[in-house]
Amino acid sequence: MTEVSESKQERFYITTPIYYVNARPHLGHAYSTIVCDVIARSKRAQGIETWFLTGTDEHGQKIERSAAQAGRSPAEFAAAISGEFRALWSRLNLTCDDFIRTTELRHQRGVQKLFSDMRDRGFIYRGSYTGQYCVSDELYVDAPPGSPCPDCGRPTEAVREENYFFKLSAFERRLLEYYDEHPEFIQPEARRNEVIAFVRSGLKDLSVSRTSFRWGIPVPGDEKHVIYVWMDALANYITALGYGSDDPVDQQRFQRFWPADVHLIGKEISRFHCVYWPAFLMAAGLPLPRSVVANGWLLFDKSKMSKSVGNIVRAETVADVLGSDALRYFLLREITFGQDGNFTFESLVQRYNGDLANGYGNLVSRVVAMMHRIFDGKMPEATGHGDAEDALQSKAISVITAFQAQFEAREFSRALETLWGLVAVIDGYLTAAAPWKKPPERSEDDHRRVQARVLSFAAEAIRVVTALAWPVMPEATAKVWRQLGLGDLEQAARTGKLKTIEWGGLQPGTVFAAPAPLFPRAEKDAIERMLNLENQNNQSAVAAASQAGSTPDPAVSEAKTTTMSDPAPASAIASVPAPVQQATEEMDAKITIADFARVDLRVAQVLTAERVPKSDKLLRLEVDLGYEKRQILAGIAQHYEPEKLIGRKVVIVANLAPRKMRGLESNGMVVAASVGDEGAPVLAGFLEDVPVGARLK
Ligand code: MSP
Repeated sequence: MTEVSESKQERFYITTPIYYVNARPHLGHAYSTIVCDVIARSKRAQGIETWFLTGTDEHGQKIERSAAQAGRSPAEFAAAISGEFRALWSRLNLTCDDFIRTTELRHQRGVQKLFSDMRDRGFIYRGSYTGQYCVSDELYVDAPPGSPCPDCGRPTEAVREENYFFKLSAFERRLLEYYDEHPEFIQPEARRNEVIAFVRSGLKDLSVSRTSFRWGIPVPGDEKHVIYVWMDALANYITALGYGSDDPVDQQRFQRFWPADVHLIGKEISRFHCVYWPAFLMAAGLPLPRSVVANGWLLFDKSKMSKSVGNIVRAETVADVLGSDALRYFLLREITFGQDGNFTFESLVQRYNGDLANGYGNLVSRVVAMMHRIFDGKMPEATGHGDAEDALQSKAISVITAFQAQFEAREFSRALETLWGLVAVIDGYLTAAAPWKKPPERSEDDHRRVQARVLSFAAEAIRVVTALAWPVMPEATAKVWRQLGLGDLEQAARTGKLKTIEWGGLQPGTVFAAPAPLFPRAEKDAIERMLNLENQNNQSAVAAASQAGSTPDPAVSEAKTTTMSDPAPASAIASVPAPVQQATEEMDAKITIADFARVDLRVAQVLTAERVPKSDKLLRLEVDLGYEKRQILAGIAQHYEPEKLIGRKVVIVANLAPRKMRGLESNGMVVAASVGDEGAPVLAGFLEDVPVGARLK
């Protein structure tokens, strides 16, 4: 059952947990998703066909309550926050191939099929549950009434319901055998030991439906029950691929990528992924994932960064001030993967300045500037080489091997340390050779030869660093690649040009592009600026909360003091954009850059365009954003012929919550000027050529 076909070997399927939509994304969520992106990029660069899935977990009592507290319907509430996750992922250059929402029809259909299959195979039966339930963890708690949740410590609630049960007890022995035969299934070791101990202590059957609330997927054939939210959520890993669909394209995708190679998760949800999920799959007769890999927690002020503690930092804040690459680099370099790691603004800025601004960034700009100044931007021929060049070259070669091995072993921090060891060696080599200074005894000709040698060796070593660092810092490395005259790095990665990274890729005669700033040094006020952004965000969150007339989450009112000057608690409502009726008043108010930065405006290219049947205004467009394709409905049919739009580059609002018109989902909005009394639309465009996916900011 768990055999994998030969052809699966050249494919790789990686997933993040799907995130609850009761709170807007923070650095903790960004961390898991960035790690997956880095792994996915590095697999693609190796020429492996990769599928990277993320998404949002939108059902269950917790979301239903958060929405009610915000005075919103669960669907509206979920759509708003899910949109924020999606927008943030594109802001951080995350290359997910799919983003699943558990409220989508494709998912609901798949979950119902999974439930029916398990029931048909005799693993689901009716019973009644009397016991405790933790709404925050959506977890049945085996403890007497009044007990706190053993996982999060919050009070549990008594539940007495007629339910469907899953025969988890029937899988105890098979699960233990599976763990034994597949030691790589649960990683790291500490999590594996915990899970094995849990299963050995005995498994009870699991209640897998609820009747006391409605926000979930109905049990097929018995609609007053909704399916347990963890069964619903875990199934996303297969429903997103196409499980439960009749469409041959979906079925083929499922065949191609299932089973998953890596489910990356936070360590607190190991039990769900390593016990319940494989048992559900065994019950349905489906292959099991190859591995469940748990990352540690990102801590802020020594506790897990989380909404309920009130100690969150938003990824947007760091990206606004230092750029998204800086955030990606910092998280991978600072945290030993698998262990908990501390986030502080101080260490972030220190690493940014030390490793990026003064390190890699400065090195690149010195070499590129000298190449322009001395050789008119053309890579010279290097004649002869001495010990220093031999040492540099052999260091680079050994770093390639070590980096790749460490990266493959998911020792990201060590791998980057190794790579920055090479940055330091290149720096030292340049300083020692000092090509900018002609010693008096050296002839002009000799000096030019030295300069050619030193700059071409340094540039080649920079090329190696850049190619290796691409999965971690896609934006900055792409700029460097262009400066080195090597063209489009993203495309090089996609077309297998990074499959083997060897010394000697930069040819004499290559024409360097103009130097462009990479990591401007963070000045003293960088931390202050980030703190201000966080405070502004917290204040607008609290304002939105009080507008909605809600009470704060009790867990939040005990929020510990953070180092931010005014740690206003981020309540559930914090996550919800201000109510619509405020919109007109807000039009008159000035906005900050941070407000503007929340609108993700992107260049997109129209792939297909057609009229929406029975509508004289709407066109259905399929647009390419570079990192994804999507469908948008635009009210421009009276002013634009669909055929003429194909191939045209337009500007879209990429992070608009999806909405349905005439039964079709529109994912974004095309930006147009509104002209004349009638408000005729004129599409925004560019005079220069711009790449698809480019952000307007
Ligand atoms: N919805 C469930 C998961 C269902 S998967 C089938 C859930 N969601 S969550 O919103 O609480 O997000 C959990 C995940 O977010 C964690 O497992 C982890 O990957 C990530 N993180 C959230 N906070 C984090 C930290 N402070 N540190 C590291 N990762 C964090 O559980």
